[in-house]
Amino acid sequence: MADKPTTPDEKLQNEFNRWAQAGEGEKMEFHHLDITEKTLRLMDLRPGERVLDLGCGSGFFLFLAKQFGHACVGLDVGDFPLSNELIGLFGLERVTWRIRAFQPLPDFGRKFDLITAFSAAFNRTEDESRGWNAEEWKFFLDDLDRHLTPDGEILLEINSGKDKRYFPFEIRDLFLKRGARVEGERVFFGS
Ligand SMILES: C[S@@+](CC[C@H](N)C(=O)[O-])C[C@H]1O[C@@H](n2cnc3c(N)ncnc32)[C@H](O)[C@@H]1O
Repeated sequence: MADKPTTPDEKLQNEFNRWAQAGEGEKMEFHHLDITEKTLRLMDLRPGERVLDLGCGSGFFLFLAKQFGHACVGLDVGDFPLSNELIGLFGLERVTWRIRAFQPLPDFGRKFDLITAFSAAFNRTEDESRGWNAEEWKFFLDDLDRHLTPDGEILLEINSGKDKRYFPFEIRDLFLKRGARVEGERVFFGS
């Protein structure tokens, strides 16, 4: 029988091996590191600035952001045991919460310099038949503003789905009207 991992490093290594065996290795190596580096460069964040990642999943973005010296908090539903374990192994703070249309986010007790969401899927109806409409997005974006510092920025990468139903043109227009830069599925509010 294989020896049980004892240290956090060994546990983490085993988790990564499991992911690699499940065919997720390349995605982790290239996808997450790529988006993290690009994001942090784009944001020009200074060490110590506060980052909130919505739908943080296993915490890959926050884990890397933490290495760059940022103070990080994640939010996710907490339904996936592997993600829960990785969050713990990465030593990340996570708020367990389900984002719902027309419901404000919880009180985090602090404001954030950057709020992110990667491959975001919270903007779907429960039966996944459609993405949020303009009113639902407006409520959400107004609420997000309450959690930002005065110069705070938002970067959303929306998982639009195969037929783009979760990111229709009218929502893209809404983002543009509110001053966002939109590149494909990436939506950036900031200076
Ligand atoms: C495709 S995964 C992306 C995970 C992570 N952002 C990444 O890029 O690796 C989508 C994540 O959003 C979370 N999620 C989906 N709906 C949500 C909701 N309504 N509220 C909070 N998190 C949600 C899921 O649990 C999952 O972790």
